[in-house]
Amino acid sequence: MINDRRRNRVLILFAHPAFEKSRVNRRLVDAIKDLEGITFHDLYEAYPELHIRVEREQALLEQHDVVVLQHPFFWYSTPAMLKEWEDLVLQHGWAFGKDGTALQGKKILNAITAGGRESAYQPKGYNHFTIRQLLAPIEQSFRLCGMEYLPPFVAHGTHGMGHEVMDRHADEYRRFIIALRDDTLNWSALAGLERVNADLDALIRDV
Ligand SMILES: Cc1cc2nc3c(=O)[nH]c(=O)nc-3n(C[C@H](O)[C@H](O)[C@H](O)COP(=O)(O)O)c2cc1C
Repeated sequence: MINDRRRNRVLILFAHPAFEKSRVNRRLVDAIKDLEGITFHDLYEAYPELHIRVEREQALLEQHDVVVLQHPFFWYSTPAMLKEWEDLVLQHGWAFGKDGTALQGKKILNAITAGGRESAYQPKGYNHFTIRQLLAPIEQSFRLCGMEYLPPFVAHGTHGMGHEVMDRHADEYRRFIIALRDDTLNWSALAGLERVNADLDALIRDV
């Protein structure tokens, strides 16, 4: 039955340079890695020397409808591997520019774990900017490629995060990825959200 509902091919591009020490991403990955219809691609594992195979990455993107960039928030941005990936894979004439239409109409979002709490990511908080503001270069890069950029999934306050909270994030991440795959999200309710996992019940349609 579930095959009948499945509509989107979801690619999770995962980047964590010290995954062996990870607590939160480990839990999130464990929650989704074996889902049917999801491709999980660990960039640091695939390219320990940072030598990205551009054609392989472009082929993967072409084969999927929704891309999730999952990573810890490092210096208000992505780990270096994802920046390298952007710089090499999003080529002129393929991703953007004349004839660069390979990514048109696909959807993309960040799934982030952040040490800082949500209250810190406010104009008056110690990080001064919201996560969405800080993600603006990524949002605009993929918009330039004709993709629809969705609000991020964010697990805030990772330092000392307890198992109960990690379990909740893992459950919500799994639910969200399944909704992306099965196309059960209320897409119009996503626009303008700071993060998708503040109130998942309001976003996921009953089927
Ligand atoms: C190099 C580095 C930079 C970081 N920069 C930020 C940051 O800019 N903002 C933030 O909230 N947390 C930052 N952190 C904290 C990480 O986001 C946090 O340790 C990670 O999300 C925890 O996930 P994990 O258990 O999967 O490693 C940084 C951590 C490291 C090691």
